[in-house]
Amino acid sequence: MTDIRATLRSVSLENPTVLPAGILGITAASLKRVAASGAGAVTTKSIGPQRREGHKNPVVVEVNGGLLNSVGLSCPSLEESIEELTSAVKESRVPVIASFYGRSIDEFGLVAAQVSKAKPDFIEANISCPNIEDEYGKPFGTDHRFAAAVTEKVKDSSKIPLIVKLTPNVPDIKVIAAAVEEAGADCISAINTLGPGMLIDLSSGKPVLSNRFGGMSGPAVLPVAVRCVYEIYDTVDVPIIGMGGIQSGLDAVQMLMAGASAVGIGTAVWKRGPEVFNVVSGELTRFMQVNGYRSLKDLIGRAHQ
Ligand code: SIN
Repeated sequence: MTDIRATLRSVSLENPTVLPAGILGITAASLKRVAASGAGAVTTKSIGPQRREGHKNPVVVEVNGGLLNSVGLSCPSLEESIEELTSAVKESRVPVIASFYGRSIDEFGLVAAQVSKAKPDFIEANISCPNIEDEYGKPFGTDHRFAAAVTEKVKDSSKIPLIVKLTPNVPDIKVIAAAVEEAGADCISAINTLGPGMLIDLSSGKPVLSNRFGGMSGPAVLPVAVRCVYEIYDTVDVPIIGMGGIQSGLDAVQMLMAGASAVGIGTAVWKRGPEVFNVVSGELTRFMQVNGYRSLKDLIGRAHQ
């Protein structure tokens, strides 16, 4: 019998696939739909301290190997987001992760306290969006001192287990991972989008995205994500949700072997629909059967042996 159940701290997942923040995660109905399609856990779109329009269209463009996005963390009001989150927590058949952000360290604390009232299984601090500036003019996740300060503030503000989402856009992701673990993070998710990158429209001669630059996701970033997860696993003891470019069960196997305990699938949902969660779980199971792996524990971190 092949067992693909995953564990993140004390939370059990029927399978290791996770809907990451930013895809189909605004309403309880869409989160429930993704859960019903086979995701092992679902994450809300990042919830902010107040309603935010985000950047003007176009905010997403397809490029070779994936997508560039610069949505700009658009979100409904905090009250509306918490209403949807509360319904999702009550009605979802799988664990719910509430992603959130603030523009300052104090705002991270305030929003963490508010979203925690809905009692999600985890809260996830998004300190890694490349498309907006925080009060220091760069994502908190690019500096280990700020990353740790946000983590500490959130831990002081909430009793819900905390995931901190890291950016690959740093010279050494190990330093950031160590800092957030030391500051109290219960799990790490990695990676947020790569870059930022840029695409220029040849007829107008202008950048395609209204915000000019955007974060890259999709299959082209998989090797970067696998390397980041590998380095984080070498550095910390907390579980890792590995994400970035996973499209198939075999991509998921790589991520697990690098050290992830669960795997996020985002851009592939955009391309192939929520059915991709069942496809990835099926392919993962078949790989394990053919190669004699009985449970995920046999795969997780195998590349380090
Ligand atoms: C965005 O809203 O611009 C993307 C979100 C993220 O990268 O965290």
